[in-house]
Amino acid sequence: MQGSANLNLMIKAARKAGRSLVKDFREVENLQVSAKGPGDFVSKADREAERIIRDELMTARPTYGWVGEETGSADGADPTRRWIVDPLDGTTNFLHGLPHWAVSIALEHKGEIVAGVIFDAAKDELYWAEKGMGAWMNETRLRVSGRRSMIEAIFGTGIPFGGRSTLPASLQDLARLMPVCAGVRRWGAASLDLAYVASGRLDGYWERGLQPWDMAAGIVLVREAGGFVGPVREGRDMLESGSIIAGNGELYQPLCKILREAA
Ligand code: IPD
Ligand code: CA
Ligand code: CA
Repeated sequence: MQGSANLNLMIKAARKAGRSLVKDFREVENLQVSAKGPGDFVSKADREAERIIRDELMTARPTYGWVGEETGSADGADPTRRWIVDPLDGTTNFLHGLPHWAVSIALEHKGEIVAGVIFDAAKDELYWAEKGMGAWMNETRLRVSGRRSMIEAIFGTGIPFGGRSTLPASLQDLARLMPVCAGVRRWGAASLDLAYVASGRLDGYWERGLQPWDMAAGIVLVREAGGFVGPVREGRDMLESGSIIAGNGELYQPLCKILREAA
């Protein structure tokens, strides 16, 4: 499947950053046993990955705006387009030597996410989607799951850590949802949770307290795979509110109902 020039650029940047992170990840596995631990090393790897992506994207498209987790935001001469980048999503997994993290790159045009690339470099799974072109993982077209009943469904989520204010609401979500579904998974990389909804591995996902770069690329992936995405509080902008619900066509509404009652 052939994507646009912008999509190919995003894939090139994601692969380049992914290669650099895979090298660093091998080193992190060795650093686990050292007295100082891998903390500083990982923040350097993270910043280096963002530098690689920024160089690739901004050299090719110098007029676009930029939002990156590590380097912040910058307006571009073209106010209608911006890159939204998380160079390493799933940092805690990476730090602990758990092979579940990804590079996430999105392109927004006039307020809409039009292309997204999520690269799980440790598993060599490259997820990509472009508006109107479908969602893909490597060469395989993605579809959300066809599961219809809540009691058979598995949902992903993120549970706030480090005293974040969204913890009580998230615990309430779990208390409502866990008795009526087949299970909840907390894998630690929001971008991959959304990619897994797109690929049907998860039937749905929700999380509160996210940043735009955690979810931007995943939004277009889920939509292009035939799924639905929306904010926890109806009427709010997903990227601004930092909350998201995603699901297949059958379970999105029941999931929203349960989570919105608690909101
Ligand atoms: C985090 C991950 C995690 C989510 C957190 C995010 P980071 O991103 O996506 O799954 O629960 O809210 O901050 O810090 O690893 O880029
Ligand atoms: Ca993130
Ligand atoms: Ca990150």
